[in-house]
Amino acid sequence: MTDSHPNPDRDATQRVRIFDTTLRDGEQSPGISLNRQEKVEIAFQLARLGVDVIEAGFPISSPGDFESVQAIAREVEGPIICGLARTGHQDIDAAWNAVKDSPRPRIHTFISTSDIHIVHQLQTTREDVKGQAKAAVAHARQYCEDVEFSPMDATRADWEFTAEVIQIALDEGASTINVPDTVGYSMPNEYAHMWSELYRLVPGLQKVITSVHCHNDLGLAVANSFAGVEAGCRQVECAVNGLGERAGNASLEEIVMLLSVREADHGLFSEVATREIARTSRLVSRLTGYQVQPNKAIVGRNAFAHESGIHQDGVLKERTTYEIMDATDVGLEANSIVLGKHSGRHALRDALEQLGFKVDGHALNVAFKRFKEVADKKKQVTAMDLEALVTDEIRATQEGAFELESFEVEASSGRSPHASVRVKLPGGEVAEGSFTGDGPIDAFFSALNAATNREGRLKEYRVGAVTGGRDALGEVTVRIELDGVGASGQGVSTDILAASGQAYLRALTNALANSPVAEAEHHLERAASRQPTP
Ligand code: KIV
Ligand code: ZN
Repeated sequence: MTDSHPNPDRDATQRVRIFDTTLRDGEQSPGISLNRQEKVEIAFQLARLGVDVIEAGFPISSPGDFESVQAIAREVEGPIICGLARTGHQDIDAAWNAVKDSPRPRIHTFISTSDIHIVHQLQTTREDVKGQAKAAVAHARQYCEDVEFSPMDATRADWEFTAEVIQIALDEGASTINVPDTVGYSMPNEYAHMWSELYRLVPGLQKVITSVHCHNDLGLAVANSFAGVEAGCRQVECAVNGLGERAGNASLEEIVMLLSVREADHGLFSEVATREIARTSRLVSRLTGYQVQPNKAIVGRNAFAHESGIHQDGVLKERTTYEIMDATDVGLEANSIVLGKHSGRHALRDALEQLGFKVDGHALNVAFKRFKEVADKKKQVTAMDLEALVTDEIRATQEGAFELESFEVEASSGRSPHASVRVKLPGGEVAEGSFTGDGPIDAFFSALNAATNREGRLKEYRVGAVTGGRDALGEVTVRIELDGVGASGQGVSTDILAASGQAYLRALTNALANSPVAEAEHHLERAASRQPTP
């Protein structure tokens, strides 16, 4: 509670810091495979949203994660950039090397304090956990003043033991103490009670930032987080669209709007720019391939829709009859930009700038070419369309990607569908493939497997539309498995088959990038070029 808020009417001690873990805990959701460029783009949007901390990844976990965290630390200004580390020195060194170029670096280190974890997972003793926590915080503090410590699975631990470990972390200089409900087991009154006990047992907690991190296994992540905040915590760890391990983390948008809508009652606030919420949610959904459920609070398609006649009647007469917040407060009106086929480069650049994308030179030429292709087929190109196209371009620039050169899919009643494709391989040469399948998509994707010489297995195929109307841009998400590695890819086009082909090739590219062989090769390349290994 040391920062001061620029609005003098607000009490700075009531400011709740928003710690976003979409790129770390969120990325641990099964099947999410974001590449570096996608992670950097999400981080830029999180900075626009105004979060206080971005937990950008777990640098020791893979060279790819290390490089993504490093790129975010180097490029994204504003929020604190944080890297996660277990207690080992190698983990902490990796986290520090990844975040050290940020103007505001943080190391977040953790170890479990529950006996279930200590005995069965760590296979060690409470004494050893104390020693590891001490050594980890001390080591991290040699590098960085901003060190966060988390006693993992604390809600199922002996609170007195957790308090002892927290005291050790404080003695070694930790500046934020985060107490997670790792398995989403707690209840709001219990979580609040745990906090009051910890404050009683460790008076030093009053002098640092205390933080909540709640999982949603019982659907209580937001309620538990808020109970912690009411108990005195001033940092909430959360993820966009509630992504995260298993049932996910507390949803960022729900926490932020709970703080904002009921501020008059609880007196707490965050500094998030709420009007960026909808766009952040769409970007994360697109890039992760995780659709938002229609009735999801704040960002679901139906969050501001009224089906019942009585409700519609009420809202038409007076919005507040059935709405507790305005859709514009979360940025849901942002479809006001409309371009057409006669719009020029300047109009496009201005529209993109309004959306927060700065494009000039080559990037503007690429964006303009893409825009023209769409504007020729679609009467009106809206803000949502532009967002989808820009996000699609971010994916298109991935290194080592397969590219769809051309395709032909023939399907008619009474004959087996046939597809032939030409694919540009990462080395530049073009390969061809053809296949007769059970259905047009089966034939198409099998032909892509043949051209790329891979055996991708389709797990999920989803088609959506960016906006309404028959000429809407189609958006396709594909989930595949390749040699035991799961990955997803997305594609956007006015032609749904073109979007499907792009999505499938991106999923193949992502699966290869995530495969253990690719990771091993990457290590060798780094060793050969003498770059420091995390
Ligand atoms: O859920 C959890 O306990 C975590 C820690 C690493 C903070 O994600
Ligand atoms: Zn977690």
